[in-house]
Amino acid sequence: MFVIKEIKAEQTYPLRLKVLKKNDKYQYKYQGDFDKSTKHLGIYNKDVLIGIVTIIPNEHPKLPKNAIQLRGMAVLPEYQKNGIGKLLIEEVEKRYSSKSIIWCNARDYAVGFYKSLKFTIFGEKFYIKNVCDHFVMYKRLNQL
Ligand SMILES: CC(C)(COP(=O)(O)OP(=O)(O)OC[C@H]1O[C@@H](n2cnc3c(N)ncnc32)[C@H](O)[C@@H]1OP(=O)(O)O)[C@@H](O)C(=O)NCCC(=O)NCCS
Repeated sequence: MFVIKEIKAEQTYPLRLKVLKKNDKYQYKYQGDFDKSTKHLGIYNKDVLIGIVTIIPNEHPKLPKNAIQLRGMAVLPEYQKNGIGKLLIEEVEKRYSSKSIIWCNARDYAVGFYKSLKFTIFGEKFYIKNVCDHFVMYKRLNQL
């Protein structure tokens, strides 16, 4: 059984490094990691942390207000494509149901994951230095 819990910023670092790092310049410590309003969720298989996501109440300048930004979404390679990432996003949507919008800078190769969870691409592809091409993707949360 998988359990989702709030974790500390430092607990996300090993997975960020293992799953998201592209090269030695990868900035695995994010601005806002220790802000009071930032939350980090971890999903556990028994006592093993197998997936993470960081939630920062950041507005996107061109998207509707009352937003949260997802960062550092990562699932251990041996657990990928088993619905773990989906469980994390569903938990975020449940916990942040009073927010209007959820958005992220999605790596180009993860776009299909977010699309499957009903996120939409916003704008053009852009490159983040030392990482890869990205798209802004978003989803409205409190749709009637
Ligand atoms: C992207 C990532 C977080 C997805 O987590 P996951 O646990 O593997 O995804 P899930 O198994 O919950 O997938 C949910 C759906 O998305 C699809 N999907 C998952 N990863 C995908 C990908 N890279 N491309 C296309 N579709 C994908 C799954 O097939 C599944 O579709 P279904 O519901 O039709 O069966 C994970 O694969 C990962 O950590 N990748 C490497 C790091 C990364 O890219 N992080 C995102 C940075 S923006």
